[in-house]
Order: sequence, then C-alpha cells, then structure tokens
Amino acid sequence: MPTSVCVIGCGTVAPVHIKAIKALDSAVLYGVCDIKEERVADFGKRYDAKEYRSFENVIADKNIDSVHICTPHYLHASMAAEALEAGKHVVLEKPVCIKKEEIDIIEKALDNTDKKLCIMFQNRTNNSIVQMKNIIKTDSGIGKLIGISGIMNWHRDEKYYKSEPWRGRWETEGGGTVINQAVHLLDLIDYFGNVKAVRSTISSKVLKDIIETEDTADAYLTLSKGATATFYATNTFPQNRPIQLELCFENTVLRYADNMLWRIDGDSAKIIAKDSGEITGKDYWGSGHARVIRSFYDSIKNNTDDYISFEKAKHSARLLCAFYESAKMHKEIVIL
Ligand SMILES: NC(=O)c1ccc[n+]([C@@H]2O[C@H](COP(=O)([O-])OP(=O)(O)OC[C@H]3O[C@@H](n4cnc5c(N)ncnc54)[C@H](O)[C@@H]3O)[C@@H](O)[C@H]2O)c1
Repeated sequence: MPTSVCVIGCGTVAPVHIKAIKALDSAVLYGVCDIKEERVADFGKRYDAKEYRSFENVIADKNIDSVHICTPHYLHASMAAEALEAGKHVVLEKPVCIKKEEIDIIEKALDNTDKKLCIMFQNRTNNSIVQMKNIIKTDSGIGKLIGISGIMNWHRDEKYYKSEPWRGRWETEGGGTVINQAVHLLDLIDYFGNVKAVRSTISSKVLKDIIETEDTADAYLTLSKGATATFYATNTFPQNRPIQLELCFENTVLRYADNMLWRIDGDSAKIIAKDSGEITGKDYWGSGHARVIRSFYDSIKNNTDDYISFEKAKHSARLLCAFYESAKMHKEIVIL
C-alpha cells in the first residue's frame, strides 16, 4: 500500500512537495491543509485532495500516514512533534526549528515512536554535492581539509516580506537571511566541515525599515581537525545567484559554483560534475525536493535509513541556533 500523505500549509513551497508526491508509486496525496479557506479550497480542487482546515483534524485522521510540514517556521517543531506523537511520518521543511530548546522537543517525540522524520535539506542531494562527498571519501590524494568558504548573494525585497506577515519577524520566522535563505549554505558547511564553534554578526543594511531581522550576515567558524570556515550571506543583491561553496584541501580545491563542481589541482581547473535533473521549484532553491521525498518514501517502504533523517540534520539545527546566539551575544558559541 502506498503511504497516504497530507501536505500542511498551502503556500509557495507546497506545490513542489505535491508534484514530487504525485510522481511516486510509494506515496499518494490524500489531503491538503491550511487555515486560510481560499488556499485550501484552491489546493483541494487543483490537486484532487481532501481539504482540512485544521492541523488537529489531520493528525487525528487514521487515513493519513504521513504529513509534510510546509508552514511558517515558528510552527515547525511543535507540528513535527505532535504529528510524530499521533503516529504519523513527517517531512519537515527547513529550518528544523527556531529555538534550541525545540530540538529536544522533537528528539523526545522521536524517542517515543517508530515513525520517521525527514528534514528538507535538499541541497545535500545535488549531484555536485554528492560528487564532492564521494571525492572526499575515496581520494585521499586531496589531503586534509584546511578551509571552507561559503557565499550567498540573493534578492528579497519589500514585496517579498510584505507578502506574508510571518516573514522578517523574530517571533515567527526566527531570523532573516540566515534561517530562511542561507540555511542550506550553512548546512553544507556543517555537512562537510562539522562545525565546532561560530562567531557571527548579523545586520540589516537595506531592509531595516521593513523587517525586524537581518538581511545580511557573516561568520568565522571553527571546524573539526583544525580547519576553519568563512561565511557570507545577503538578501540585498540585485539577483538570486547560485551559492558558492569552496572546500580547500592541502593539495586540491573543490569549488561548487554556478551549480557545477570544479576540481582545481595546481594550474589545472576542470568541471567534474553538474547538477542535473528536473527543476521542481525555483532553480535557486535547488532541484532536490523530489529526490529527498522519493528517498523518504522508499525508505518507509523498505524500512531503511537511507534518507535525510533528523539524526543527520540535528547538528546543523544546533549550528543555526548557535549562529543567532553568537550574533546576539557578540561572542563565540561552541556547538555541543
Ligand atoms: N527547502 C526549500 O528550499 C524551501 C523553499 C521555500 C520555502 N521553504 C520553507 O517552507 C515553509 C513554507 O514556506 P512558504 O514560502 O511556502 O510559506 P507561505 O507563507 O507561502 O505558506 C505557508 C502556508 O502555511 C499556512 N499556515 C499557517 N499556519 C497554519 C496552520 N496552523 N495550519 C495550517 N496551515 C497554516 C499559511 O496560511 C500559508 O498558506 C517555510 O518553512 C520555508 O522556509 C523551503
């Protein structure tokens, strides 16, 4: 039997999830849920799904096996924990949560269930990123990791922030550029570098009269085994450019830029991989939603751990909380 799914939150990202679910044999779209009447009615008709006007009704419904949480950030942890406690599998959009205490709430809910929780860090599945991991695992000739540089230049303006009242507010979004847009870049730095400590700053250079949170951030990060990283992210650039992630090893540089992977050995620079596959969202989000969702429902069907689990994303969630703590306290925060 395919897993029966309900998507919670009928906003911008939800259609990306729905298209991915509809392409699978291992899952079927059963319902859609939103507190906004017009949105749920539109999605119900458009995607031929049962309409739910409250999350509580979704998790009480025995016909639903799994929920996708595509709601504003402040609802992520509580909805994930409640759905797990009600016996549902969960796909949770990034960020995992907005406060570090919420990590423990999710962990507790997982301890009391055999259901699975998948975190939408889809950029980990981009072809170039997968190839980067492979090279690090198999090619000892590159030498030790020395440093990582991560850069994100994106554009978010007044119109974007005014489109939904939860955006740009500490209480509901939990931050700005870092928690919403650069969260994937920060996750990739952690994925490759295993961040131990962070010294960060946040500022609002252009949007200060519009949002409470930051539009720009930077950081110096201490990684494992003596390596370090630098990070810069802004929503003030005129365009949305692909992220840049450069990993410097003793003998080789691996550079992810323009959605391609470069390998640089001395004077020789070669493109060794390109991201490919169907684009199911805006291209600067990456095209990995479908891959993450497919691997999740395959892993439910085959009872494997071959998906981006909470366990694999937990450290990155801690880093995100530490990033804001460091910026607010003006001191280095060590990640436990
Ligand atoms: N992985 C990615 O690359 C990616 C891309 C875009 C968005 N996202 C994430 O997806 C989430 C949603 O983003 P969005 O841009 O679609 O937001 P959005 O504001 O467009 O949509 C959120 C929807 O949730 C609904 N909602 C609010 N409270 C609810 C409740 N209690 N019960 C049911 N529905 C409720 C709202 O009415 C709205 O329709 C965010 O966490 C965002 O960061 C992730």
